[in-house]
Parts: sequence; structure tokens; C-alpha cells
Amino acid sequence: MACFFRRNIASKLAKVLRHPEESFISSICAIPVSKKQRSSDFRLSLSRLRENGFISSAEDIQRQAEGLARKLKRDTLLEEITVGRGVINFKINRSVLIQVRNFKEVSNGRHRFGLKSELFRGHQKGRTLVEFSSPNIAKKFHAGHLRSTIIGNFIANLKEALGNDVIRMNYLGDWGFQFGLLGAGFQRFGSQEKLKENPLQHLFDVYVQVHREAEGEECIHQAARDFFRALEQGEEEPLSLWRHFREITVAEYQRVYNRLGVRFDEYSGESFHQDQVLDVLEQLRTRGLLKSTEKGTSVVDLSPAQDMSYYSTVLRSDGTSLYITRDLAAAVSRKEQHAFDEMIYVTDKSQAGHFRQVFEILRAMGYRWAQSCRHVPFGLVQGMKTRKGEVVFLVDVLDEARSKMLRNMRESTTTKHLEDPEDTAEKVGIAALIVQDFKGPLESDYKFDWDRVLQSQGDTGVFLQYTHSRLCSLMRMHGNEGEGPCDLTLLQESQGIVILQHLLRYDEVLWQISQDLQPRYLVNFLMILSHLVAAALKALPVKGSPPMMAQARLQLFSSAHTVLASGMRILGITPVQKM
Ligand code: ARG
Repeated sequence: MACFFRRNIASKLAKVLRHPEESFISSICAIPVSKKQRSSDFRLSLSRLRENGFISSAEDIQRQAEGLARKLKRDTLLEEITVGRGVINFKINRSVLIQVRNFKEVSNGRHRFGLKSELFRGHQKGRTLVEFSSPNIAKKFHAGHLRSTIIGNFIANLKEALGNDVIRMNYLGDWGFQFGLLGAGFQRFGSQEKLKENPLQHLFDVYVQVHREAEGEECIHQAARDFFRALEQGEEEPLSLWRHFREITVAEYQRVYNRLGVRFDEYSGESFHQDQVLDVLEQLRTRGLLKSTEKGTSVVDLSPAQDMSYYSTVLRSDGTSLYITRDLAAAVSRKEQHAFDEMIYVTDKSQAGHFRQVFEILRAMGYRWAQSCRHVPFGLVQGMKTRKGEVVFLVDVLDEARSKMLRNMRESTTTKHLEDPEDTAEKVGIAALIVQDFKGPLESDYKFDWDRVLQSQGDTGVFLQYTHSRLCSLMRMHGNEGEGPCDLTLLQESQGIVILQHLLRYDEVLWQISQDLQPRYLVNFLMILSHLVAAALKALPVKGSPPMMAQARLQLFSSAHTVLASGMRILGITPVQKM
């Protein structure tokens, strides 16, 4: 519906300013709703018109706004055109705003509402590879991996909603010297039983123990080196142990990802690309990009003056590869295998420099597609602890969120009778984690606080879930009433109008997040929607209203419900029906 109004304003501008309609679309924005009742719905920015060269930049902007506003004619659709500071405001005729077709557009569009907007006309569909989560076998799954998991999932959901063909990839840290240590350690302190019982914990324990003991003991170090060399040379016994570690770890992770509602199309890993590493090194060498240092390492000189003031090491002196070498090989092989149009890596911001180098080297190797690779960095989380203490495994965070939420729900008076309270508590708890994480700019660090995360009031995931479940219960109660004839002109109260005004902005929010991949705009939009819904549920009761009025209000709430649910799903939240 927003498109329809925006287009109408654009066509008026097109006539006056003699440029095609399309050129004005991006200068017209829905005005965010605020506490203060507002009368206008859309705003045209004169400075945008100047930037785009549609009006002169030399004249007084205010006079230009007034002059232009005078030339734009009001009609049955635009009932008011007023001038603000450097802007022209448009008010949509209220009876047009609440027309049936607008509601139909929301409810028929379902999860496509907002995504079919003309704002997305230039959107590149194509294939998107999103690499995210990427934990390390036998090491801690830290808060950063949780962030990568939910942010990557959000990006994949968003791209999918936009019509891209998405590949979700997990790139496990499953290779390197640490597997020498782990293997040697397992031969000493490992137990097959414990490995079966609690694989992640046991591997972690072995890793910690061998790390500790290796400190003073050269023989453990030697054993680790031997084990890793045997692994790299493809010897069957160490390889099969390593394979076993990897398999049980992946199985364990998959269980947790299932709980989170996250899935992967592919579990790749650093171990996959050993052959291609040699290829990459060969390519670097033939292109004259490889330099040897006195220390015996091989590096790529990335400094503009080629004076080695900025370089990247790609081969150790003992001939083994590094993290970056494996990343180069992985990128090349992914392009060959998946022919992606864009690739997105999601990791904490400490790896920003690493990815800058990866992309630079790929470009230097002549891979033009490196332009379409992007790193999405995020900040650190401080203080994520559970009852057991510092977080070691993701499963502990999820368990803690579920049990805390379950307790809150038991204590709350509004909690409904639930068939599977654990499952509901889990979904609400996860929503809470996601919203807390997505509230600010992704690059910012934040302090984790269980109490704040799980509050039912305030801008939390619990509040979103609560609003969603209230709307569901309303629809359950009045389900069959929503079918009959309906007179939407009855929706004249401001609490209803303001919801529609807010929905006008949904496509702009989706467009914004599709550009910078920052979920906070969507979180914010859904929070406001939920507050507006809460106010409307109070002011515009369905129960006890005359049938026609009840109908119209149900329509309104059903539209709000559709948008809330689809927005939550893009964020990676599974909306609950009851709580
Ligand atoms: N396993 C790495 C870590 O835990 C993250 C991998 C990120 N992806 C990549 N292609 N380097 O730090």
C-alpha cells in the first residue's frame, strides 16, 4: 500500500519537475509515528531533490519548498500538502487509507508484504552464500559464535525473503596444529565412553588437559607434532580418529542449531581445502606475488609501494599453511562450486583486518568476484555467564534461557495453560536473546544481562512474543467472525489509524536493512508496532462491539499480526501462538 501512495506523489512530482516518476520514489519517505499525534503520512525531502539534481541548489530551500508545494495539486487521495523545514508533507485521505484494498494487500501478501515494494526494483537477486557460526572443534563455543549464528541466520533469512537463492554455510575450525594436540591428548587421556556420553565436553576437557600438560613437557609437543604431520599426510589411523571427532561434534551442534531454528546447507571446514592450498600458492607464485622472508616464511606484500610495510604471511617456515591460506583456498573453491553472486562472512570485528587481506589478495590474484565478497563484523559480548559459570557451550546458554523463562512464566499471572511449556519457554527465551543482540549497531560491544534480556515489559523479545500471542488468541477467539462483510470506514479512531500509518513504513525498513544488513531497524519497527498494538487492543475492543465494528477491528489486528509475524521470522524468531 505504501507503494501506491508513494507512486501517486511521485507522479505529481514527475509532472511538475519533468523527470520520470521512478526518480522520485527514493526521496519520499513514510513519516515515523510518534507519541505526538501527527497528521501527515509522507515526507518529500528537498535536499534529496537537490542532491539528485532535480531542483537547483542555488536558491533558498524554503522558498523552493513553498513554490513546489503550491504547484502540487491536492486530490481525493492527498488531502493535505503542507510545507515543513526543507520538506513537503503529504496527508493521505483517511478514508482512502483505511480502504479494504490496503488490508487485502497485507493479508494476501502474507510474508511477502513490504517485499514487493518498488523500492526493491533494483535489487540484485542472484545467489548469495552466507558463511556463519563457524565454531572450532574441541574449543569453546563462545558468545561470538552465538552472535555469528543468529546474525548470519538473519542475513540468510532476509536474502531469502528478497528472493535470492541462499546457501547457508558453516565453516568449521577443524584443522591445524590444535588437532595434533587433541589427537595426542586423546591417545593419553581420552575415553570412548565419555566421548559417547558427552562428546563436546569430553573433547574440550581433553584439549584443556593436554594443553596444560604440554607446557612443560617436550614429549607431548613432539607427539602432537607427529600426530598432526601424520594427519596432514593422510595416515589412516589419526585420520579416522579426527573424522570421528568431527562427526560427533557436528551431530551435537546440529541438535543445538535445531533448537535455535537454524539450519545449514553445508558443513565445510578448514580441513576441506588442503589440496587447493597448494593451488593457491602456485597461483601466487606464478603471478609473482609470493615473497620469501629471512625467517623462511612466504608472504604476499600488500603495501602500495611494495616495501613490505604491510604484508600477509601465507606459508610458515615449516611449510604448513595458515588460517588465511585456507581462507583463500576456500573462497576460490566456493566460487567454483557454487558460482555465487555475492558471499558474506559473519565474524566478530577482530577479524576485519583478516578479511580485508583475504579480499585484497584475491583481487591481486585476478579474481574480480572478490568485489562481491563482504565481511559483516560484530562487537563483543561481555559477561555472558550461566549458573555453571563462564559459557563454554552454546547448549548451556539455551538451557539457561529456557529455564529462566520457564520460571518467569510460572510466576506470571497472565501465563496461559500450555501443552508444552518447555517448548514455549525455549522459543520465547531465544527471541529474547536475539532481540537483545540485535538492538544496537552490530559493531557495538554490549554487556549481557539475563534480567534485562528476559523482562516481559520494555523492548525485549519477550514483549514481541507476548504481543504476537495476544493477537493470536484474539484471532482464535473470533476466528470465524473475520469472514463476513466488513466496513472498514468504521476504523476512524487514532489508535487504528496510527497502526496503518506505521505499516506504511515497513517496506522502507526492509529496504534499509537489505542495504546495511543491520537488524536494529527491523527490531525497532516491530517494537513500535507492538506498542501500538497494545494501545489499540485496549482502546478498540473486539469483544462486545457491534458486529460490523468487531469485524473491522479484527481486520486491523490481523494485518498487524501478519506483519509482526513475518518480521519476527526474518529476525530468526519463531513466533509463539500462546504464552
Ligand atoms: N572458526 C573461526 C573462529 O572461531 C571463524 C571462521 C570464520 N570464517 C572464515 N572463513 N575465516 O574464529
